Amino acid sequence: MRADPQAQPAQYWDAVLRDWQRRPRQLAWRRYCDRLHARLLERCLPAGPWGSILKTDLFDEAVSEGLAPLLLLRSDSVTGIDISPAVAAAAGAKHPLLQAVAADVRQLPFPAGCFDLVVSNSTLDHFAGEHDISLALAELARVLRPGGQLVVTMDNPANPAVWLRNSPQLGRLVRRLAVPYQVGATLGRRRLERALQSSGLEVQRRTAILHCPRVIAVAVSGCLERLAGDRPARGFLDCMAAFELLQRLGTRYVTGYFVAMLAVKPANPT
Ligand SMILES: C[S@@+](CC[C@H](N)C(=O)[O-])C[C@H]1O[C@@H](n2cnc3c(N)ncnc32)[C@H](O)[C@@H]1O
Repeated sequence: MRADPQAQPAQYWDAVLRDWQRRPRQLAWRRYCDRLHARLLERCLPAGPWGSILKTDLFDEAVSEGLAPLLLLRSDSVTGIDISPAVAAAAGAKHPLLQAVAADVRQLPFPAGCFDLVVSNSTLDHFAGEHDISLALAELARVLRPGGQLVVTMDNPANPAVWLRNSPQLGRLVRRLAVPYQVGATLGRRRLERALQSSGLEVQRRTAILHCPRVIAVAVSGCLERLAGDRPARGFLDCMAAFELLQRLGTRYVTGYFVAMLAVKPANPT
């Protein structure tokens, strides 16, 4: 049995990784998500070097390529943290140039102002409550230098799949069937924006990403992967990528699975 994710998060996530390594799954899907997040970063950050970078969890790097290849291309100082020592170790072994540290995003072992960029893709939506999200955002704001940038994505509670998953009635069943690990409280567009502002950050850009129907895409690409191998699954997900055009429409905050924001720590706080 797995540890309690709130009381013993490090042990819990260590066990999630062990299960995953025993029975790797959703490989094409994980690569697809990496690609979407990489595109988001390239779209909203400058074309040149990105300075010293902090990534707030290393699950993607431990089970897939993750964002490390892109981040290491743009910076020679990339630090990644994860509360799970096993996840941090697996990511560090795969990407030797990445400084992988076992740490809690709510209490970072770094001095104030030491990062130019923080990348937090779907890390902060695994806590029991919003108080922990605020604690984590305050820490991220603290370790950013003045003028530094934060790119954050979180599950979008207005997306029908996330809404269903978090609903008190059907949620437990949906989570058991479709989500292989703990998911938690999350913030929609307006509340995330307010939480970032309360942490002293200025929101500069906002959008929503991952517009393909996630449940269907994961299920079909998983079946293809098992029956026909990696290439057909990837081909299918390449077709699913056409759904990203929905990002251009006013309905993006309903169709998008993740809310995404770029926030900046003001150089001269008022
Ligand atoms: C299931 S993964 C999802 C995140 C992944 N970036 C993605 O997009 O799918 C959650 C990761 O966050 C890590 N994590 C959970 N709580 C954390 C915390 N308080 N501090 C740092 N990492 C944490 C877990 O160990 C796990 O590796």
